[in-house]
Amino acid sequence: MDRIRIRGGQPLNGTIPISGAKNAALPLMIASLLTEETLELSNVPRLADIASLLRILSNFGVDHMIAGRRPGETQETGQTIRLTAGSVVDTFAPYELVSTMRASFWVIAPLVARFGEARVSMPGGCAIGTRPVDLLIMALEKLGATIEIDGGYVVARAPDGLKGGEIDFPKVTVGGTHVALMAAALADGTTVIRNAAREPEVTDLAECLVKMGARIEGAGTSEITVHGVPKLNGTSHDVLPDRIETGTYAMAVAMTGGNVLLENTKPELLQFALDVLEQAGAKITREGNGIRVYRNGNGIQPVDVTTDPFPGFPTDLQAQFMALMTRAGGTSRIRETIFENRFMHVQELARLGARIRLDGDGAFVDGVDGLKGAPVMATDLRASACLVIAGLAAEGETTINRVYHLDRGFEALETKLSRCGADIERVKG
Ligand code: EPZ
Repeated sequence: MDRIRIRGGQPLNGTIPISGAKNAALPLMIASLLTEETLELSNVPRLADIASLLRILSNFGVDHMIAGRRPGETQETGQTIRLTAGSVVDTFAPYELVSTMRASFWVIAPLVARFGEARVSMPGGCAIGTRPVDLLIMALEKLGATIEIDGGYVVARAPDGLKGGEIDFPKVTVGGTHVALMAAALADGTTVIRNAAREPEVTDLAECLVKMGARIEGAGTSEITVHGVPKLNGTSHDVLPDRIETGTYAMAVAMTGGNVLLENTKPELLQFALDVLEQAGAKITREGNGIRVYRNGNGIQPVDVTTDPFPGFPTDLQAQFMALMTRAGGTSRIRETIFENRFMHVQELARLGARIRLDGDGAFVDGVDGLKGAPVMATDLRASACLVIAGLAAEGETTINRVYHLDRGFEALETKLSRCGADIERVKG
């Protein structure tokens, strides 16, 4: 199994191109099931999760073509994938495929909306918590699907098609909102989605669906109205920049010091997190089509943070921010309100010398003068990124095991960081 080896202590200087967002690309790829025509997606990141979803879609009979690199394009410009669900042969998503990635459960929505039936494995738990799908099922039921749980599978049926309805989410759910949008797009009549997720990835999906012929109002707000249409068409769509990758590198620069331009990204995708980073001592400016982040000389200030749905502080940046706070000049409190078990990185940070106390949904981080390199283990995708950030600032060598977690969500991480002066390499094996 590959490992990442980091020798810490170098500031980061240079330019990092930001990839397309994994969490936008996945629902967009799933939306290809809504039409028999071709959906062309560009700026798709090269990630293990994208490859896993392509396998699942192929299993249904979706044709895909990945365009080769054009002259002058670098590895980081993102790939273009054409998906055509013109001859779907199966609406069954087996456990072996769905269990590798929870988001693949979302295929249930376009399948039942377009073909009247889907049989999709329950995704099961994962390292960051139980993560149920009850609200996704509720959304489909509100649109008239009948749901049966059979041998670990969710069987959704709507032989006469879905009907518009009212969906009131008791808590904000990104996946639930994606599912509701895709299902409602082909339902007969109007659907109102209340307490909808406002994440930029939801807006990106809605924009693509509109280009495909869907009638959607209010995406990006907490109430979305969808007027169903009988058929959708193909289109081309550019995946929006990855705000979590952007925030991760911004935190890495805040941690190590230095000056980096994050290219092809937008501050408004993560304004809350950038404001927090400024309070912590980083300087952030918009520059061209990107964001410049620097911290020279001044120390890291402790900042209290609570994770919240968008536009609040993202749970997917909580671990990375905790890494930064381990070097702050004082104590910070980090509260995790989205997932109940998303502190697995705490014990690994402790191996590097961090001082963190857990208390319910909160972590108290007492900043220390220095971290010391050690072997550590990645437990989930974002926790891995947190260990990279800590390793970049730690004295001596840090080895991160189980980096397949990183490969799920960070494209060419070690290349992007080493070009900015980090001493980081992948050790094969
Ligand atoms: C998406 O997961 C992201 N995944 C997650 O990113 C992200 O952490 C999360 O949204 C929150 O922002 C993708 O986009 C592929 P939710 P999702 O439904 O949609 C509870 C990463 O690292 N809930 O918004 O699965 C749930 O347990 C990943 O890239 C129910 O109770 O998250 C959680 O507490 C990790 N019942 C809360 O809602 C349900 O039916 C929010 O989850 C559904 C969710």
